[in-house]
Order: sequence, then structure tokens, then C-alpha cells
Amino acid sequence: MTNTRRAILERLADGPRSGEALADDLDVSRAAIWKQVEALREQDFVIESDDEGYALVDVPEYGGDAIQFGLDAPFTIEFHEETGSTNDLARERAADGAEDLVIVAEEQTGGRGRLDREWASPSGGIWLSILVRPDRPPATIPLFTLAAAVAITTAVRESGVDAGIKWPNDVLVSERQRANDGSSGEQSESDGVPVSPDPDGEEAKLAGVLTEMEGEADRVEWLVVGMGINANLDADRLPDGSTSLRTELGEDVNRRLFVQRVLETFDDLRNDPDRILERWRADALTLGREVRVETASGDTVVGTAVDVEHPGTLLVETEDGVERIHAGDCEHLRPT
Ligand code: BTN
Repeated sequence: MTNTRRAILERLADGPRSGEALADDLDVSRAAIWKQVEALREQDFVIESDDEGYALVDVPEYGGDAIQFGLDAPFTIEFHEETGSTNDLARERAADGAEDLVIVAEEQTGGRGRLDREWASPSGGIWLSILVRPDRPPATIPLFTLAAAVAITTAVRESGVDAGIKWPNDVLVSERQRANDGSSGEQSESDGVPVSPDPDGEEAKLAGVLTEMEGEADRVEWLVVGMGINANLDADRLPDGSTSLRTELGEDVNRRLFVQRVLETFDDLRNDPDRILERWRADALTLGREVRVETASGDTVVGTAVDVEHPGTLLVETEDGVERIHAGDCEHLRPT
């Protein structure tokens, strides 16, 4: 969004303004104001005009300017109807020197997940990558990944879905919650009698985080935090074991407000990293659970997840003592 367009929106958010007042305020011609208002209308901002001037009547559901409008965090939004992968675009922008930039796509044709998996990214989801340049050593970067999961979980919970985090950064909805809230999820029955779902039963994945970075031993050059959130999608468009906000809520969320909330929470946490672990623990589904973790070094650790410590290390109590796992793929086990 151009600075003029952003400034026009900020002023119209406070109430109707004449073209002349806007032009004076922003030190541009009235023709320039008219041109930017037309550009906003093309993006589905509803701006009415009469002899008195312009009035902002409605904001589009989604899009770059829509997310930027009212965003209380210092990110610039770059929006694409379609791209291969927002993480790839963010890496390109990083090479060009950008920072505090968020790439958002309506659809990704080459969405990437962790461990080189594909990430289904049809229209209706939230696919975005945040490019930041934290002034911190690379060893602390896992904290930012946890912060991303907390930011997503905060927005998901505020939308009415009781999700939690599987270490390190998968956002899941448990079968128990899905069945109990009555809005969705399949309720199993036996002889006509509803069966209480297993509290440790299947969990469905709602969102994931893919973090990529470049740096040297003591300094991070750039960090890209990619977030994939299954928002306004039907479950049949997603891989098995996945769910969406639409499935859980029975209605669509306002993606503009949702993304704003995610970005604002992420921004708060990156500015106050000492709070991240405490917030993560409060949202975690993994702590206290029996887990099997395939570690990045190729080992398998089975035991009870007891805690997470700086900068995101999982502590698993095994028969042989406590194992500290820095990176890996974690599976929640049902009790035998
Ligand atoms: C995971 O495997 O759980 C992580 C999935 C991350 C997907 C997001 S969608 C936006 C960004 N662009 C990508 O290609 N991947 C991430």
C-alpha cells in the first residue's frame, strides 16, 4: 500500500473527510487523492462520496491493504493472489534487504511443510511468511518458532476453537474438543448410545510453522517464519488428519482480523522474548503426554514430555533419565 493510500485510510477511519481536507493534510493534489480512492475501491474498500467528501463504509474481507488497515504492528503486507511458496518469496525479499515484511498469498501452488513435505494451500486458507531480522544469536531462534505457534493458537482460541500446541509448533484440535462442542467433528455411537470420545484420542492438525533462516555463528541475517493455517476450507481439500477453522466452527472466520491478531501477538512476543516459553507452556498439548520423538540426529526417544526449556528444547523423561531434544518430529502416543 502506498503511503498516501495508507494515510487516506487512517483518516477516513476517524470519519468522513473532504477531498480538499485530505489533499491539504497529505500535501498532495485532489487528483492524487481521487486516484488513490479509486485504487482502494478496486480492492473492494467501500468508500462513498458526496458533496461533503469521502466516507469509509466497509473494508474488504482479505487482501494486502485490508490486512494493513488497522494493523497494530510495524509490518508491511505484500499480497499475492497466487504464488509458489510465500517462504520462497520472503527469502527473495530477504536477499534484497527487506525486513519486517509479511508475504501473504490467497493460494500457494508449491507450499512447503517441515521435513520437505508438501503443504496443501488452496484458496480460503491463511498462507503467510514473516520476514524479520532479529538482533539475536542463531541459537535462540527456536524461540521465535514457538512464538509463531503461540500467536496462531491465541487467534484460534479467540475465534472459539480450543486448540493447543504439539511440540514444537503444530497447532492441533483434539478429537475430544471437536466432539464435545457439538458444532462439528464426528460423534461416535454404539448401540445408539453416544460414546464419550477418548480424551487422548486422535488430534487433527489445524496449522503449522516452517521457519527458515540465514546467519553466521553469532548473528542472524534474516529469519522467515512461514505460517499455514487451515482457515475457511472444507476438510476434504486437506490431507487426512487435518482440520480447518470452518470445520470446527461451522462458519468462516474473518481472515483479515485473524491475520492481524496473529501478527500483533507475534510482534509483542518478539519484543518480549522472556515471555515466550511461559506462553508456550500454557498453550501446550504435549506436556504431560507420552510421546515418541524422532530426533534430528536420527534417534527415537519414547517417554513422558515433562517440560520445555530455553530456547525450545523438549525434556522427555525416559526409563534411562531425562533426554533433552533440540529438534525433531514429535508424536503424541495414546496410553496403552
Ligand atoms: C508444517 O509442516 O507443519 C509447516 C507448514 C508451513 C506451511 C506454511 S504456508 C506459508 C509458508 N509457505 C510455505 O511454503 N510454507 C509455509
